[in-house]
Amino acid sequence: MKIAVIGSGYVGLVSGACLADFGHEVTCVDKDEGKITKLQNGEMPIFEPGLADLVANNVDAGRLSFSTDLPSSIQGAKAIFIGVGTPSRRGDGYADLSYVYSVASEIAASLNEPAVIVTKSTVPVGTGDEVERIIRESGTTSKFSVVSNPEFLREGAAIGDFKRPDRIVIGVEDEFGKQVMGEVYRPLFLNQSPIHFTSRRSAELIKYGANAFLATKITFINEMADLCERAGGNVQEVARGIGLDNRIGPKFLNAGPGYGGSCFPKDTMALLKTAEDYGSPLQLIEAVVKVNESRKRAMGRKVIDIMGGAEAARGKKVALLGLTFKPNTDDMRDSPALAVAQALTDAGVELVAFDPEGMENAQPMMPHVTMSNSPYAAITGADAIVLITEWDEFRALDLERVKELARESVMVDLRNVYDPAEMRAAGFTYVSIGR
Ligand code: UGA
Repeated sequence: MKIAVIGSGYVGLVSGACLADFGHEVTCVDKDEGKITKLQNGEMPIFEPGLADLVANNVDAGRLSFSTDLPSSIQGAKAIFIGVGTPSRRGDGYADLSYVYSVASEIAASLNEPAVIVTKSTVPVGTGDEVERIIRESGTTSKFSVVSNPEFLREGAAIGDFKRPDRIVIGVEDEFGKQVMGEVYRPLFLNQSPIHFTSRRSAELIKYGANAFLATKITFINEMADLCERAGGNVQEVARGIGLDNRIGPKFLNAGPGYGGSCFPKDTMALLKTAEDYGSPLQLIEAVVKVNESRKRAMGRKVIDIMGGAEAARGKKVALLGLTFKPNTDDMRDSPALAVAQALTDAGVELVAFDPEGMENAQPMMPHVTMSNSPYAAITGADAIVLITEWDEFRALDLERVKELARESVMVDLRNVYDPAEMRAAGFTYVSIGR
């Protein structure tokens, strides 16, 4: 099937490459000429494990191409995916739908064959109705259907998530849309991946509901971690004990510095706004957002405390290991590292950092932080080490070398990577989360 994917950012590019790998003929479209030229030359605009190879293989096979020309790219396409960004609108937290709507208008202006327009961007409930209205009012005479097909890709594991999904959610209002979407995902159908056909509005709510629930789960265990610290418990053992209950499940119960990234913070905010507009406030999610925000900065205070308080910390040097919001990505959006670094900078602490992939994106966002070329370079002369992101290469640091290079053997492990007893035995002053 011929498919066009509009928006070659994270969602569009991963979806386009995976759909091509299913055997479809896919054109990924973006307005950004620089990005399209790069992609045509085989350069990836983002870091995602496996993506460069997947793109190269499908380009070589003639199934995947890139273009800045939307009108020609949608000619003959039976499915047209919208995968443009829906960032938080400046000032009010609503999802900014201007890109989605302008793409809908552009599609409408060139639509002259039957096609299904599929919203993959994360959009508030009711957006599909508006996209349908825009296309209908453009006066197109082509048959079309507007479908919601939210993505559940995790950065760093996106290709696996696309190809072996827990479920595919398709919000559709008519037979034509249902039949075309069945064809798009036929390879997964054969794999017996559950396909959940539902109404368009339900599909839109499922996406926000899933992210808000996961954000709640993380926030719950983070608060339990605080209680463990005060009451004397080990949050990892508590989480295991809770998660073994099948009704709860073990995933997303890792306590840490608070969730970040391009999705949870913005999607929880947007959901709150939608809920307010419908006169049905989500008080639980309001609390989650508030707790998570204050937690990130509180992690900076945790570092200052272990250094002996604000007086003692001023002028000291701290090494930050890991800056991205999670490992295997170069994404810095809403990373807890930003709040931790800000709190420490505000307290007059000098910061040196290392991250395997995130430093280029991080530097403009944290101009006061000196970037290093290895974890050991960052640690050299440090009065404390803060492990913020659990990249694999931080899991087995040479602790003897760390002790020699650092001025003080102090580690704040915000991801519970190391064993407290072993760290103490190795001579470290060590704190972690909820243990
Ligand atoms: C999230 C969802 O997991 C995806 O299903 C969804 O498709 C995506 O948002 C989206 O809406 O596009 P992502 O933001 O890539 O994916 O990352 P996650 O792996 O979910 O992690 C989010 C944050 O939660 C990270 O900062 C991570 O460190 C934190 N986290 C996660 C914890 O602190 N503890 C956990 O147990 C799990």
